[in-house]
Amino acid sequence: METRRHHRRKEDYSLRTHLIHGNFESRKWDYDHHVVPPISQSTAFRLSSLERGARGFEEFASAEEQSNGHHPIYIYDRLNEPTRGMLEENLAYAEGGDVAVAYATGMAAVSAALGSALQQGQEVLAHEIVYGCTFSQMTNWLPRFGIKARFANFFKTESLPRQITPHTRVLYFETPINPTMQLIDIAAVRAVADKVNEHRKPDDRLLVMVDNTFATPQCQRPLRLGADMVVESLTKAIGGFGTDMGGLVATSSDWYHQLMLYRKDFGGVLNGRSAWSMLVYGLSTLATRMTNMQKTAQRVGEFLCKHPKVEFVSYPGLDCFPQKALAHRQMLSPEGKFAPGSMLYFVLKGEPGKPSNAEKLVNYLAEHAYSITLAVSLGQIKTLIEHPYSMTHSALPDEQKRAFGMHPEGIRLSVGLEDWHDIIRDLELALEKV
Ligand SMILES: Cc1ncc(COP(=O)(O)O)c(C=O)c1O
Repeated sequence: METRRHHRRKEDYSLRTHLIHGNFESRKWDYDHHVVPPISQSTAFRLSSLERGARGFEEFASAEEQSNGHHPIYIYDRLNEPTRGMLEENLAYAEGGDVAVAYATGMAAVSAALGSALQQGQEVLAHEIVYGCTFSQMTNWLPRFGIKARFANFFKTESLPRQITPHTRVLYFETPINPTMQLIDIAAVRAVADKVNEHRKPDDRLLVMVDNTFATPQCQRPLRLGADMVVESLTKAIGGFGTDMGGLVATSSDWYHQLMLYRKDFGGVLNGRSAWSMLVYGLSTLATRMTNMQKTAQRVGEFLCKHPKVEFVSYPGLDCFPQKALAHRQMLSPEGKFAPGSMLYFVLKGEPGKPSNAEKLVNYLAEHAYSITLAVSLGQIKTLIEHPYSMTHSALPDEQKRAFGMHPEGIRLSVGLEDWHDIIRDLELALEKV
């Protein structure tokens, strides 16, 4: 590879520019003469000698593999692969981590982060509301491995220390929370963990894990705010177009070995074709898409706020957002501008005992609207609507949902790139019908 002498360091360019051009050079692959990074599709790699094969196995997932100066020795896709490697370099850069490891889905990433950090007899303490499958993974599957999940109120960080036992190894939460859009103060949770860690050995440290799916690194970088690990579904706004599934763990290099081994042995690898789509189409357009979707989300939020059939709207960009000060501190673009994201949650007025107005509205939109689609998933260029209480969060117990802001009249809206007038008009017409 010819080493070019750039007249500015890559840190001097904005993240937006960086994610379009990628790394100046990649140790993963020499693509110096490609304008667009190439795609590699090979499950196995030719080894020029047995010795090279043995060295490849020896170096796999090791610190030396990261720093030995030569290209990684590729052996088999499930171990390591160049296109995914190039995506990982850029994801690590975007999240501000030493490393990023990409998985087949967001849930595979959650599993890898928890599975790498936790051992039999330890426990994860999570916020009361987490994505339904994360809740199910914690309550149905981790106990089979002797790992317990408990839930606590992370809004009250002052009461968290009372919930932490000597077995608690991980503090886990989403912010913004799916679907309520409430925020958890990452730095405040970090401070709680630091206090506990004063009395713990290094290998036993309490870890802070944040699911950054709703914000994406364009709107929030939890590692910079004190998280030890970030997990994220790449299926959403990073993939951006709704064509590929993926997941990510970004963290310090101390965790690289475990995360890679977990992926090798449990097998949830991100395939090269999806990695390429995310690298070439997803990451490169993330800043532009999020900035535009965010502008529309603000307008839609303001429209819904004024509507007489709407009880309340939860969107960090609104003046009435109860955690406005925290939003302005925590949700920032890489250039430091307020970045409340593209997700909204709103609750319709309803009457107890009567059929839910939210269900009526969502069904009406599903049948009559062109710019709004009833579908799960989020963060893509199409505006998507869903009813979390009966769909994405149905795994959570009713009392838990109601106590922490989820409501049968609640609706989640993932704002896309359509003309904002169309989205508001479709909502307006549908609201007339409930
Ligand atoms: C907050 C959050 N985390 C994790 C996931 C899981 O991601 P995936 O569907 O890519 O497995 C989702 C999916 O909706 C999510 O909303």
